[in-house]
Amino acid sequence: MANAAAIRNQIDEVLSSYKLSNEQLEYVRDQMTQNLFNGLHGKKSSLKMLPSFVRGIPNGKECGDFLALDLGGTNFRVLRVKLPEKSDDRVEVDSQVYMVPETTMRSTGEELFDHIAECIEDFLTRHNLADASLPLGFTFSFPCVQNGLDNSFLLRWTKGFNATGVVGKDLAGLLHEALERRKLQSHLTYSVKVKAVINDTVGTMMTCAYTDHDCTIGMIVGTGSNACYMESEADIKTLKKEQRLAGNGRMCINTEWGGFGENGSLESIRTDCDRAVDKESINPGCMIFEKMISGMYMGEVVRYLLLNLVRQAGLFGGVATDILKTKGKFLTAFVTQIEADRSHQLKACSQILDCLGYANTTLEERSVVREACVNVSTRAANLCASGVAALVLRSRDIETKLPALGSGDASRFRITVGVDGTVYKKHPRFRFLLSDKVSELCPNCDVTFRQSSDGSGKGAALVTAVACRLGENIEADFTTEDGG
Ligand code: GLC
Repeated sequence: MANAAAIRNQIDEVLSSYKLSNEQLEYVRDQMTQNLFNGLHGKKSSLKMLPSFVRGIPNGKECGDFLALDLGGTNFRVLRVKLPEKSDDRVEVDSQVYMVPETTMRSTGEELFDHIAECIEDFLTRHNLADASLPLGFTFSFPCVQNGLDNSFLLRWTKGFNATGVVGKDLAGLLHEALERRKLQSHLTYSVKVKAVINDTVGTMMTCAYTDHDCTIGMIVGTGSNACYMESEADIKTLKKEQRLAGNGRMCINTEWGGFGENGSLESIRTDCDRAVDKESINPGCMIFEKMISGMYMGEVVRYLLLNLVRQAGLFGGVATDILKTKGKFLTAFVTQIEADRSHQLKACSQILDCLGYANTTLEERSVVREACVNVSTRAANLCASGVAALVLRSRDIETKLPALGSGDASRFRITVGVDGTVYKKHPRFRFLLSDKVSELCPNCDVTFRQSSDGSGKGAALVTAVACRLGENIEADFTTEDGG
């Protein structure tokens, strides 16, 4: 019995560093706010705070037929989006998922863009559009410096992509060149013109805002994690003079919060498992916040945590199998499956452990594995909540300075966060943990989370629709006429 109690103590000890108090989460929220302001002022910050040149949420009047690309998550997608004349009608989306092999992700930019062009051509051919002329919105989910809507330069790769010769290049240019190369081979006559390059967070916000005018924050918790929000343009000090518009306008900022912590502000809460995951990644020292939250890394954090439990608390009789010791073998999908399983005997967990080389585990062992998953996913949701809280409170401050954007009631600030990403959508408790914690971290605010379906693709089409409607004056006129 004493032995069992001692083991329990060791397990609690190992897991304790994943339980963050509200005080710690408030600290994270406030650090995030500090970095946000530094980034807006062009001072040293781990948030890149990238202006998107999207100056308004949709007014629901956008319509037409568009192509959209979505690159940067688990899959690459080509979409055809039809925005109806009346916003009450359904937006029609045809889409096709294509694989981007890991070798292509990490080869040359030319190879990557040739692959994208080939997929676009395949899509056009399958949809009888091989001689069509369509404007294209490109959701490119990586940090980019923008000089305008269709003028976007990659700052650095994240999430396992590493194709050479793309950083610092104009993405629309790379895509156009690849399409021209492709057309020389196929002799097809389609004309595809990139009108807008946007981040997936921006697409998600725009899609939700199409129907919910209180939506001024977009967030992704998928392969990577990031958020954007509508900032007051006058406070974006990094904009050049010629990029500014007169007046009290807003502009959507891509925070790139995945990089939060790169300047050391999360060291007090990072664990040895976080450090191990970072060290083994292709970009050590980068995307510290993302590595504590998102789907690309969550399974890895659990794997290292299980190895610690084996070593320090004698889990599985103190034996680590070769599979458990292998990078990438504990998938984030396992975390979801284990936590979603309601069976008494924790059957899903048993099957997963079997695949990891642990046959015939005891119920106690499986419960500990489940607890490890719960601790890591709960911490991820809590950290995300700190980030959302920082953006909600900033948005509330902006609302007091500028004319209302949504249908807000002054006594209680109301805001909607548009969300997408596999972790948010698939994990059984993530969304509830997130929204409960956000309520605690920003009292007196009504924060609604709205899951966007096809957010990135539809969002790119929406931004493109406005770009086409307004032609040359896109940036000047891309505002809501009726307050949303
Ligand atoms: C990574 C990218 C970011 C993107 C996020 C979600 O953090 O750097 O641009 O929004 O993943 O896909």
